[in-house]
Amino acid sequence: MEIRKVGVAGCGLMGSGIAEVAAKAGFDVVVREIDEGALQAGRARVAKSLDRAVAKGKLDPSARDETLSRFTFTTSLDDLGDRDLVIEAIVESLDAKNELFGYLDGICPEETVFASNTSSLTVTDMAAATSRPDRFVGLHFFNPVPVMKLVEVVRTIVTSQETFDAARAFARRIGKVPVAARDNSGFVVNLLLVPYMLDAIRQLERGVATVEDIDTAMTLGCGYPMGPFTLCDFVGLDTLCQVAEIMYGEYREERYAPPPLLRRLVTMGRYGRKTGAGFYDWTPQGPVPLKV
Ligand code: CAA
Ligand code: NAD
Repeated sequence: MEIRKVGVAGCGLMGSGIAEVAAKAGFDVVVREIDEGALQAGRARVAKSLDRAVAKGKLDPSARDETLSRFTFTTSLDDLGDRDLVIEAIVESLDAKNELFGYLDGICPEETVFASNTSSLTVTDMAAATSRPDRFVGLHFFNPVPVMKLVEVVRTIVTSQETFDAARAFARRIGKVPVAARDNSGFVVNLLLVPYMLDAIRQLERGVATVEDIDTAMTLGCGYPMGPFTLCDFVGLDTLCQVAEIMYGEYREERYAPPPLLRRLVTMGRYGRKTGAGFYDWTPQGPVPLKV
C-alpha cells in the first residue's frame, strides 16, 4: 500500500497545516475547500506559514517554492478521486463528515485510504458509513500542525493491519511521532485535555480569578506553553464547543459538558483567534482579556 498522492479536505486551521507538512515531505497534495473564499483563505494560510519558516531560516526560499508547486487547490470534490490517501479536516460534524466520505467512497478507487482528523467523533461512526471500513483510520494531528510532533493513529476494530501500518508510516514520513490509539471519543490527548480546558472555563464562571490570571497561573505555575484560555482561543471555541457536546454525548460525564459561557461566546460569533475574539480580543496591540 504505497501512498504518493494525498488529498486534504478542509483547509482551515488544521487542514492547511496537514497539507503543508505533507507537501514539505514531498507528497503531491490536492486540497479541497467548499468555496473560492475559503480556498483563498486556506491558500494564504499555507503561504504565510511557509513564509514564516523562510523568515526564521528553517526553510530555503527554493524549498518553499518547491513545496508550493506540489499543491493543487480546488473546490471540486472530484479532484480528490485519484488520491492514495484522503485526510479529512472539515468541521467537527458527523453529518458533514459522512456526507463528504459518502461522496468520496463513490469516486475513489477501492484501495484509497480514508483518514479523519476528528477531535472527538469515533472513526467507527464514519468508517461504518462507507464501503471500506477496513481502509479507514484516524490521523489526529495537533495544532499548530507544523510545530506539534504528535499524531494519534487510530484503528477501529475493523481497520486492517495494512491500513494501520500505511497510516503510521505516513505519519513518520511527514516527520511526526505516531502513537497508536483505540477508537474511543477523544482518543488519548483530548480525553485528558478537553476536561482541563472546560474546567478552566467553569472556574472562570465561579469567579475564581480572571482570564488573564488563570492563564498566567497555569503558564508560570505549571510551565505550560500557553494558559487554558489562550489555548481555547487557539483551538477555536466553535470547535471546542462541538467537541465538548460530542464527548458529553458519548460519556455522559459532566466534565465533558460545554459550560454555558462557552456556548454564549460561540453564539456571539467569538470563535477565538480565527475570528479575532474569544476569551481575548486579539488586537494588533496584543490580546485584551474578556472581563467576566
Ligand atoms: N505555524 C507554524 N509555526 C509556528 C506556528 C504556526 N501557527 N506557531 C508557532 N510556530 C513556530 C514558530 O515559528 C517557532 O519556531 P522556532 O522555535 O523554530 O523559531 C515555534 O513554533 C515557537 O513559536 P513562538 O516562539 O512564536 O511561540 P511560542 O514559543 O509561544 O510557541 C506554540 C507557540 C508552539 C503554539 C506553543 O505556545 C504551544 O506549544 N502551545 C500549546 C499548543 C497545544 O497545546 N496544542 C494542542 C492543541 S489541542 C489539539 O490540537 C487537539 C484537538 O483536537 C483540539
Ligand atoms: P476550521 O473551522 O479552522 O476549518 C474547517 C474548514 O473546513 C473550513 O475552512 C470550512 O470551510 C471547511 N469545510 C467545511 N466543510 C467542508 C467540506 N465538505 N469540504 C471541504 N472543506 C470543508 O476547523 P479546524 O480547527 O481546522 O478543525 C477541522 C477538524 O480538525 C475538526 O474535525 C476538528 O475537530 C479537528 N481538529 C481541530 C484541532 C484544533 O485545534 N482546532 C486540532 C485537532 C483536530
